[in-house]
Amino acid sequence: MKKTLLFLLTLLVFAGAQADNKKKVIRIGTEQTDLLLQVGDNGRLYQTYLGPKLRHEADLQLFDWYVMAGSDGAISRRGWEAYAGGGGEDYFEPALTVLHNDGNPCTKLYYVSHQAEAVEGGTHITVLLRDDQYPLEVKLHYVAYAKENVIKTWTEIVHHEKRPVVLSAYTSAMLYFNRNAYYLTEFSSDWAREAQMSSQQLQFGKKVIDTTLGSRAAMQTHPFFEVGLDQPVNEQQGEVLMGTLGWTGNFRFTFEVDNVGNLRVIPGINPYASNYELEAGRTFTTPEFIFTLSQHGAAEGSRSLHEWARRYSLKDGMGSRLTLLNNWENTGFDFNQQILADLMKDAKNLGVDMFLLDDGWFGNKHPRKDDHAGLGDWDVTRSKLPEGIPALVKAAKEAGVKFGIWIEPEMVNPRSELFEKHPDWAIKLPNRSTYYYRNQLVLDLSNPKVQDYVYGVVENIMKENPEVAFFKWDCNSPITNAYSPYLKTKQSQLYIDHVRGVYNVMRRVKENYPQVPMMLCSGGGARCDYEALKYFTEFWCSDNTDPIERLYIQWGFSQFFPAKAMCAHVTSWNKKTSVKFRTDVASMCKLGFDIGLQDLTADELVYCRQAVANWKRLQGVILDGTQYRLVSPYESNHMALNYVSKDAAKALLFAYDIHPRFKEKLHRVKPQGLDPDRTYRVEEINLMPGAKPTLKAHGMSFSGDYLMKVGLEVFGQEAAQSHVVELTAD
Ligand code: DGJ
Repeated sequence: MKKTLLFLLTLLVFAGAQADNKKKVIRIGTEQTDLLLQVGDNGRLYQTYLGPKLRHEADLQLFDWYVMAGSDGAISRRGWEAYAGGGGEDYFEPALTVLHNDGNPCTKLYYVSHQAEAVEGGTHITVLLRDDQYPLEVKLHYVAYAKENVIKTWTEIVHHEKRPVVLSAYTSAMLYFNRNAYYLTEFSSDWAREAQMSSQQLQFGKKVIDTTLGSRAAMQTHPFFEVGLDQPVNEQQGEVLMGTLGWTGNFRFTFEVDNVGNLRVIPGINPYASNYELEAGRTFTTPEFIFTLSQHGAAEGSRSLHEWARRYSLKDGMGSRLTLLNNWENTGFDFNQQILADLMKDAKNLGVDMFLLDDGWFGNKHPRKDDHAGLGDWDVTRSKLPEGIPALVKAAKEAGVKFGIWIEPEMVNPRSELFEKHPDWAIKLPNRSTYYYRNQLVLDLSNPKVQDYVYGVVENIMKENPEVAFFKWDCNSPITNAYSPYLKTKQSQLYIDHVRGVYNVMRRVKENYPQVPMMLCSGGGARCDYEALKYFTEFWCSDNTDPIERLYIQWGFSQFFPAKAMCAHVTSWNKKTSVKFRTDVASMCKLGFDIGLQDLTADELVYCRQAVANWKRLQGVILDGTQYRLVSPYESNHMALNYVSKDAAKALLFAYDIHPRFKEKLHRVKPQGLDPDRTYRVEEINLMPGAKPTLKAHGMSFSGDYLMKVGLEVFGQEAAQSHVVELTAD
């Protein structure tokens, strides 16, 4: 009996020891991806895995924190530290660099605890880390959206040292990969040349994508990227990491391949000129880094991000959108009350929902008759619009459309009453000659008084005109002459505090006017990130509305944003292309017009009206359906994509011929996402009056299976032609 008891006791002790030996693993998992963190036997936290979902729970125990990193074997054990502090044993780019009060530049973080809670659409995991020598804590946040296969991560830093510590690196996250090769696709940009995709293989060392522009921050490169693992990024197959930073200011992505061929990806605010003095007890919160790991190419990754954005991120992501007529490309600054009233009738005539008044309606002492004056003075120019905005709202109502208005509230022209009154509200160096970008300066949003003023621009318009239905919020200048009169001795906080000030304003606007849709614009598409898009329903992709260029621009942005967020207008850019072609290109996103109806023939007007009606009828498919990119303009002389409604009952195929070669072999286009077992009727829509469908399959029916495997002949030999094909399941 005694012996049995002893045996049982031994068993129990052994089992206990086994339990203790169990590695502490934190699993951040979606339905398709696992990110594993492990507490090492040294108490620090390491990434051990980021890849396709692991099937067996028991396998999570098989990783050793120092093995995956391919450490220097016998020489040392080096792991992938989840949030590597600078100055330690890791010789590569750190996540966090802190100068402590005693001058010590080293931070070592140890695991303390973690917790998980259910949030809308996913699980929020928080991991608490603490330095063992300094009163400094870091919280790593991860929200895993299970169905959408998206992970959102950010970090909080707080300390209790006597004086402020100086942060010189404060990234949002760190991710590691151990693969044979890495291929980066980046999205470079400029005015009228947004979202241009290019790829390169990453070799040893660092590749950095960053911006120092401050406010029109994404003008030269956008805050998103793709990394092809083992192979270059491909639309339909292969493993691809797609990541984007929610930050409307200076951002930086560092891609570093180390001595043993591992890649670390480090997204965050660009610390350029931004050493941040963090006071004791105050929390420094980094921007959110949002990523998806697709096992089936970029197209699947995009679909995951589109779905996630509509459900959990974009302002009114599940709502509908307003079609509109804008006046910028048509009138520029040259309009009056009568011209606008006539344009509102044109909007009605076109069948769109709204008229959008652009730049040039404000300023009295310094009227905004061109871009040299008036910014900052948000009173209607009485000589131009004697009865003010109320009369415009009324005229729109009479015409039967809604009324929207353009503002650029973060800026000031030196020729303005605002600047005369508050020269110290502008970002401007005191003792240097001033450099003006588009004749204007950026208001200092680190100053709470300026935030109030900027918020007041929206509030004043809404108080006087509660029926204003839409704002286009522009931002045309980068920060120039970077010096904040408000921050005085803390200049190195300007780039960060300014952006936080911008968010304070945007947050207030959203809180007070949650129903008002807003377009984010920045001299075209220089603001395109998921933090700003929490406050905006959509963004203006580019001032370049040449439909050929737009095919590339929209292809680029579609990698990260759903059609619902992307505004596309029909204009007079590239008149060599037909109005049908221009409209068909704009119709694959959120449709609008910015063209004088006098520029349209009678037939073209009939065509446009029909196209607007079709778009409205099918907007549920375009904006809320699933997008399948089929033929890339980068890899062919054509472009094609299709959308499918959630119930697969309706699909819409857009096909464009850009500049086909003589006798080029034309491939059939195979739509995706259809129900293979249903029969779809094929109908070409958006035809010019009197034109016969050129699509051979028009009027015929096919199974979804046939369409997806055999495809349709939608491409032609002529340049700048388009086909829009509606597929309806029986
Ligand atoms: C830049 C925008 O991208 C344009 O659409 C237009 O609103 C102008 N600004 C107005 O100044």
